[in-house]
Amino acid sequence: MRAIQLTEYVKGPLDLKVTELPTPSPSPDKYLIEIHSAGTNFFDLLQIQGKYQQQPPFPWISGMEFAGTVLATPTAAKNPRFKPGDRVFGANQGAYATHILAPEQSLLPVPEGWSFEDAAGLFVTAPTSYGGLVHRANVQQGDWVLVHAAAGGVGLAAVQIAKARGATVIATAGTERKRQIAKDFGADYAVDYRDKNWPEVVKKLCEEHRTGNGKAGVDIVYDPVGMIDQSLKCVAWNARLLIIGFAAGKIEKVALNRVLLKNVSLVGLHWGQYAHFEKETVGTVWRGIFDLISQGKFRGTAFKDESFVGLESVPRALNALGSRDTWGKVVVKVVDDDASKSGITQSKL
Ligand SMILES: NC(=O)c1ccc[n+]([C@@H]2O[C@H](COP(=O)([O-])OP(=O)(O)OC[C@H]3O[C@@H](n4cnc5c(N)ncnc54)[C@H](OP(=O)(O)O)[C@@H]3O)[C@@H](O)[C@H]2O)c1
Repeated sequence: MRAIQLTEYVKGPLDLKVTELPTPSPSPDKYLIEIHSAGTNFFDLLQIQGKYQQQPPFPWISGMEFAGTVLATPTAAKNPRFKPGDRVFGANQGAYATHILAPEQSLLPVPEGWSFEDAAGLFVTAPTSYGGLVHRANVQQGDWVLVHAAAGGVGLAAVQIAKARGATVIATAGTERKRQIAKDFGADYAVDYRDKNWPEVVKKLCEEHRTGNGKAGVDIVYDPVGMIDQSLKCVAWNARLLIIGFAAGKIEKVALNRVLLKNVSLVGLHWGQYAHFEKETVGTVWRGIFDLISQGKFRGTAFKDESFVGLESVPRALNALGSRDTWGKVVVKVVDDDASKSGITQSKL
């Protein structure tokens, strides 16, 4: 197989190289999968530089999210959920490769009609946003939801989920292109949060379009950036502020008197830990997401302004992700399925 294997840390993604390695044999407890697409994540950039909290022992293959086809089921499994040929997506260390071994609990079936490219970006973003909005913030029909960095990976998932639950969405994003993308995915309003008066803009929208306590601001804030302090200026009575991440790179400190005075809740979410502490919710969340997909209320968010084909394009894809110019999920097509369908193989490109 071919893979991006690290034997030492690198300075940045452009130093990554594709190497030839033995293809794994079928395993007693893992599926052997042929990868068609791999999703990129910011933590991949940290991991290749040795700056992430989970650093596997050398040598290791980078990448975490993938979609592909089952080649072999676990040899010791009596009743495997998937069979050879099934299309699956999942998350496991070693996704920047043509093949991977992955346990059953890290895999899900590719939704009907979805491309590998879109499925490769689903495993982390969709449940984070669904778990946050539905299970932690109890989003309801008629709520107003403020989604920060709405054109990012978790942001675009949050916009779609909030809309599907009957909420009105105010999206924030740093460029006109990203604000347009957030609207294309359903946001009702889009606000430039690089303008320091953005909380006033959100408040004005609520004053103009809401009634009663809602005139003061939104009911839910979805924050993957680190904007809680500022967001407290434009929330309604009983608001829930979801702490999802710190993409801006700073862990905020918040004046708790404002939490009391406004009668609001700060709500954390650590999706990855649900598999350890609350397994039953993992299944409920995925059923909710698959329901939205089957109703046509949730679609893939793969970045389309530029294409990344072949493992050799992983460095370029990670570089683009790090530049903050992309939107949605940056996905690498390890196999170019469109070209294969039209009879052009990778080696002929
Ligand atoms: N809590 C959980 O369980 C969980 C799960 C998944 C992800 N996360 C976290 O959620 C955050 C977002 O993840 P994601 O996958 O949506 O990432 P992403 O696709 O890279 O999007 C992040 C967005 O943050 C905005 N941003 C603001 N300041 C930034 C800065 N200084 N550098 C880079 N981006 C900045 C950018 O939008 P603009 O250009 O529009 O500002 C960017 O599009 C990450 O911190 C991630 O670790 C948490």
